[in-house]
Amino acid sequence: MSNPDHPPAVGVLDQGPELIFPPGFLWGAATAAYQIEGAATEGGRTPSIWDTFSHTEGRVVAGHTGDVACDHYHRMPSDVRLMAELGLKSYRFSVSWSRVQPGGTGPANAEGLDFYRRLVDELLGHGIEPWLTLYHWDLPQPLEDAGGWPARDTAARFADYAQLVADALGDRVTYWTTLNEPWCSAFLGYGSGVHAPGRSDGADAVRAGHHLMLGHGLAVQALRASRPQAQLGITVNLYPVTPATDAPADLDAARRIDALANRFFLDPVLRGSYPADLTADLREVTDFGHVRDGDLAVISTPLDLVGINYYSRHVVAAPVEGAEPEPYWRSPSCWPGSEDIRFVTRGVPVTDMNWEIDAPGLTETLRRVHDEYTDLPLYVTENGSAFVDAVVDGQVDDADRLAYFDAHLRAAHEAISAGVPLRGYFAWSLMDNFEWAWGYTKRFGMVWIDYDSQARIPKSSARWYAEVIRRNGLAAQ
Ligand code: FCB
Repeated sequence: MSNPDHPPAVGVLDQGPELIFPPGFLWGAATAAYQIEGAATEGGRTPSIWDTFSHTEGRVVAGHTGDVACDHYHRMPSDVRLMAELGLKSYRFSVSWSRVQPGGTGPANAEGLDFYRRLVDELLGHGIEPWLTLYHWDLPQPLEDAGGWPARDTAARFADYAQLVADALGDRVTYWTTLNEPWCSAFLGYGSGVHAPGRSDGADAVRAGHHLMLGHGLAVQALRASRPQAQLGITVNLYPVTPATDAPADLDAARRIDALANRFFLDPVLRGSYPADLTADLREVTDFGHVRDGDLAVISTPLDLVGINYYSRHVVAAPVEGAEPEPYWRSPSCWPGSEDIRFVTRGVPVTDMNWEIDAPGLTETLRRVHDEYTDLPLYVTENGSAFVDAVVDGQVDDADRLAYFDAHLRAAHEAISAGVPLRGYFAWSLMDNFEWAWGYTKRFGMVWIDYDSQARIPKSSARWYAEVIRRNGLAAQ
């Protein structure tokens, strides 16, 4: 479709008819508080589990911490101007619980809330829709000391915190997601221990997963009661799980990992029950005695939308005697009760995280959630890639990242064409930032950060994305 008002665009948009997204499609970019804000001890903020973890020797590559990060806390107005220059329709950020309710209990910290109030006002002033995530992994340390997510009380604390944020920002924020990627909080934080708080116990990971979802449900109820107009959801990270072969043992391995990675969260939140095969698989790990009557009804409190983070696919195979476990989220202790299942690498191109690039997996994931779980509007709340970038003559030409976005947006468009009510897409990430256990060694941003000078340089992918947003589409291939 050509539009005489729009001159021909640059790069991949040059040729052919366009692939147009639905009107009003919410084009955005995402970040998270601990990854960008810095100002770790300013304005009344107290430590979260990520402060403690990153300051513990050997936990984060090169001893990096989020103390300064991208200094967004001090540079917020100019960062919002940059978002406006890129034409973002929406910005997904998270609130630091330790900033707005230091210690995780008790009264609000006015100075902390004021930062987010100013952020939201800046966004609205630039016509950018704020998309607020309440919890992106940064539990206040005193709540961890009291038992963390494996303890039931943390769910109630989370609902109180949600209420406090709703009271302060509910008049100006429409889109709210409770949790970001509860799988990571539960299974990387309490199972493998590669994320904060760094504990390693399969039963604790399962309990944490349940209490995170309980906290989500309670928070949704609190938000719904005080802000009936709000659009409420959760963000889950999903993976298609594919068996390496059609052998029954590989099919069973895929079933088990799918249960732990995807259905553990999708079923309780969207169907109000745990999958029977999951609870059977976990028999040796836990008897699910932590699940009380009524919990699943709370967890499945109706939502307005579902956020999906998509990065890659898992290909798995049945155990083989003596096989070596693989690192990071493939570490066996992420998968209680299924530690012996092998994650197979296919030799396809990977990102700098070593994550296989698999754009069709995004179409598959979106279609699955729509076909098997819900008619609710879906949003890709994160999708992106780390690559090794370099500044050359003041420019960062990140062709690999641009191609990754391009391929995944085509996959998203294909899902829409197949009838999936996908209403928006958030690139991960607006800017390079603290990539958790990898510190600053992995760059996911569309905007380059010079961590010495804090200079921002929009990469080629940012300029390209701005053009995609302006056209509300891509060139057909
Ligand atoms: C997701 C996280 C996000 C970022 C990306 C790369 O799992 O939600 O904070 O680390 O991965």
